[in-house]
Amino acid sequence: MSKPIDYTIEPAKGQALLNFQGRRLPDKIALFETSLVEEARHEGQKKFKFETELNYDFKNLLIHGDCLSACAFLKSQNIKVDLVYIDPPFASGANYAKKIFLRTGNGKESMENNTTAIGEEIMYGDIWQKEDYLNWLYERLLAIKDVMSADASIYVHLDWHIGHYVKLLMDEVFGESNFINEIVWCYHGPGSPGQQNFTRKHDTIFWYSPSEEYKFNDDDIRIPYHETTAAKFESAGTGFAGGEGFDGSRGKIPEDWWVLPVTSRVRTEIVNYATQKPEALLERIIKTSSDKGEIIADFFSGSGTTAKVASDLDRRFFTCDVGINAIQTTRDRLVKAKASFDVLKINDGVRLFRNPAQTVAKLFSLLEGYKDKAELGLGEFWDGGMINKRGTFTPVKFVGIDKKLTVELVDVIIEEVIGVEENNQEEIKTDKGTEDKIPSVKIIYAYRQPEVTQEYVNKAIKQSKKTGIKAELISLDELLAQKADVLYTPDNAMIEIKQDGKQWKVEIKKFFSSYLKNKIDDFKNKKVKPKQKTLDENGDNGNGNGNGEENPNDNSLPAEDQAKAMKIQISESGLELIEAVQFDTTLDKDGVWRSNLSIEDKAGVKEKIKAVYTLQTDKFKMKIRNIAGDEIIIDSSELIKK
Ligand SMILES: C[S@@+](CC[C@H](N)C(=O)[O-])C[C@H]1O[C@@H](n2cnc3c(N)ncnc32)[C@H](O)[C@@H]1O
Repeated sequence: MSKPIDYTIEPAKGQALLNFQGRRLPDKIALFETSLVEEARHEGQKKFKFETELNYDFKNLLIHGDCLSACAFLKSQNIKVDLVYIDPPFASGANYAKKIFLRTGNGKESMENNTTAIGEEIMYGDIWQKEDYLNWLYERLLAIKDVMSADASIYVHLDWHIGHYVKLLMDEVFGESNFINEIVWCYHGPGSPGQQNFTRKHDTIFWYSPSEEYKFNDDDIRIPYHETTAAKFESAGTGFAGGEGFDGSRGKIPEDWWVLPVTSRVRTEIVNYATQKPEALLERIIKTSSDKGEIIADFFSGSGTTAKVASDLDRRFFTCDVGINAIQTTRDRLVKAKASFDVLKINDGVRLFRNPAQTVAKLFSLLEGYKDKAELGLGEFWDGGMINKRGTFTPVKFVGIDKKLTVELVDVIIEEVIGVEENNQEEIKTDKGTEDKIPSVKIIYAYRQPEVTQEYVNKAIKQSKKTGIKAELISLDELLAQKADVLYTPDNAMIEIKQDGKQWKVEIKKFFSSYLKNKIDDFKNKKVKPKQKTLDENGDNGNGNGNGEENPNDNSLPAEDQAKAMKIQISESGLELIEAVQFDTTLDKDGVWRSNLSIEDKAGVKEKIKAVYTLQTDKFKMKIRNIAGDEIIIDSSELIKK
């Protein structure tokens, strides 16, 4: 990790502030190293005459990493963005999932016969304590503000779950007087039979700009006047808004409520990403608040709607996401839209596995003898504990994927350890004689303040003179790295490469994924449950944000799917387990491989990948992505040529 970057925090004066227990004021953002994953370039790439000199050399970027690390990266590169749209998780109490489909058919029969869902892959978790969420978002808003150009605008998309609280945070970060609009995006949907409230079908978007000189390209977003209004103008002669000379043909500036259909009703846009937003929404925002050539940033990319629309409208884009499924979906969408861009990975730790939600889910399974706090009668503070072989016991606390282990938190931990000593400590007989039942606790952290070392904690405990229990610090990255072989067995593929005149024929003969094999086995062994609505990409409200009734912990299987599940067999070739195949065929002079977008192969909704490719070279890198999103990269130098 490089040197952390300071936040610029100007305390908000003379306005209401949101104050709650545990409120944190961050001081620095961690700056992590980045690596280049791919240079995606289209032949006949669009050329812009940029109307701005600022950030002249900026290349479009898609970054796999946390919003915070992405802001630190921008800051370290002196890049300022001209418009920000963010649609962060809404604190909706749902886990968003991608359905995984085996492409089992030949593409001619109906979809029912051709694809089989083998369960879900959690894309990201949206289950928060309100306080945690607000601390988390506040820190990110501050970081985003630091990378906005002087007259930039920011649009923050939320809904009834948390929007009212975030308005106060926005006032604090951007200034109450810099609020411009609260835009209400209204959409239709059937609601749930028997609900006892009005159907929640609107989202809220707060628009702020730190400058009075913000852009408002009204002529680009005007809409026609209603017929009767237009008639009134003529008869009144003067018009009521423009006065003498009012020109009704320009159209009117839209209201601050926009009725636009959700993506699930705009079939051509659907890319199967839960919470995908409609392009029309982004189109209006981008046209209103930016000019051609400017940089549009979205720090919660999801399916990549913002970057895609920005590219279509001849703007440049910067976008990032923590989830690998989001990165892949955005990448594929941008390639299809003929955008050129670099894909970077920030080594910030939270991208272990597919996304943070899955990392946390895995974490406790790695601890031998681990049991949840409910089973152990431990206090609320602890996550659970490990029953050790000799009968001793270690309480465990995970600080959180987005939280830092700070000096203040160490004080809290020591108080909790003292509580454990008072309430749970006893002497037990082991094969080594009499021992304390609880010799130590484990504190697992994703980030820590540099001064919070093991020595620091030992010293703080000693100084407290109130407990003999030790607190052992464990880095999440190290823990996961130590257990990497248990957690992750890479897929493997058998590839044949044959010369055919001046060309090379590359064929995937067999593919195997032990992760997917286990997933299919688990799926077959699931319990049966009655059919229930889930918050997935087919949800009726486009956001999956409001009225879902899914219980994210219930993973049993609807009865009608079970019979189908029992029949699932992976074929001899295993090709139905592959979602996409890509090739890098050009090696730049600076040693970077460039992808060849013309020979990409993506499985259709029904069809398998083609599996046979003709290349003009025998030097390439081949990426095979499975249907859960894991990728293997095969270097042609490892293949035996025929
Ligand atoms: C509501 S979705 C965005 C949907 C997007 N507007 C679209 O049209 O597809 C929120 C996204 O934020 C991502 N996310 C969650 N925490 C993040 C973080 N700390 N940094 C960056 N992205 C994050 C999730 O993986 C998810 O893809």
